[in-house]
Amino acid sequence: MDPIIVIDNLSFAYPDGHQALCNVSFSATPGEKIALVGANGAGKSTLLLHLNGIFLGDGSVVVNDLEVEKKTLGEVRVMVGVVFQNPDDQLFSSTVFEDVAYGPIYQGLEKDVIEQRVDEALNAVHMIAYKNRNPYHLSSGEKKRIAIATVLSMRPQILMLDEPTAGLDPRARRELIELLQELPQTMLIATHDLDMVKTLTPRTILMNQGKIAADGPSMEILSDEALLYENGLL
Ligand SMILES: Nc1ncnc2c1ncn2[C@@H]1O[C@H](COP(=O)(O)OP(=O)(O)OP(=O)(O)O)[C@@H](O)[C@H]1O
Ligand SMILES: [Mg+2]
Repeated sequence: MDPIIVIDNLSFAYPDGHQALCNVSFSATPGEKIALVGANGAGKSTLLLHLNGIFLGDGSVVVNDLEVEKKTLGEVRVMVGVVFQNPDDQLFSSTVFEDVAYGPIYQGLEKDVIEQRVDEALNAVHMIAYKNRNPYHLSSGEKKRIAIATVLSMRPQILMLDEPTAGLDPRARRELIELLQELPQTMLIATHDLDMVKTLTPRTILMNQGKIAADGPSMEILSDEALLYENGLL
């Protein structure tokens, strides 16, 4: 199968000079679910933000045969949905409805289709009753679920999820994992929730200081104690 994501020799330094990614290369096939693990500061969030061009580094990022660059950002953002680590970076409207409708409106969909997309996304995260609430006043777990809905409403082919289970109560966490299991999209999930990795993502990419330290079957990587220790996860 042709890959849906191809990252070749990607390097990125923040404006202060901190080198957050060094020569990262990997590809993903359609429908593949991949965990991105690594200690704090390993570069997971920075990498995810390159997939829809929030950051543009050196090297290349190609999604669906389209190079991510300034002139393709509009098309790329319809294909790739990113759920940020901090939901406050994602929620900016005065109602949950407006936040979840934002993507479908941007896609130029009809009003009734937009409403249907919003309901579908809010139902998926069990937050339909919150449609008219102000996102600013929600609990952090509730915000996380709404942030996920803002991306699901666009039905992107590729989902980038940054710490999707952080801050969720045990039931919400379990239900989210079940939801992600059912979704057919290609997913790259940055997480410290290694139990989720075992059940959700057959493949794991382990990062350390901006580099890929290992890439392979989750079961092999997560059972390799020496590897985990070396890379700050044990
Ligand atoms: N805006 C910034 N300016 C300078 N350095 C930054 C900036 N944002 C992140 N960094 C640095 O880049 C490196 C990678 O950060 P990143 O947020 O990608 O790590 P992470 O793997 O997502 O960590 P965590 O598990 O804590 O979420 C870190 O060393 C961090 O200090
Ligand atoms: Mg992060």
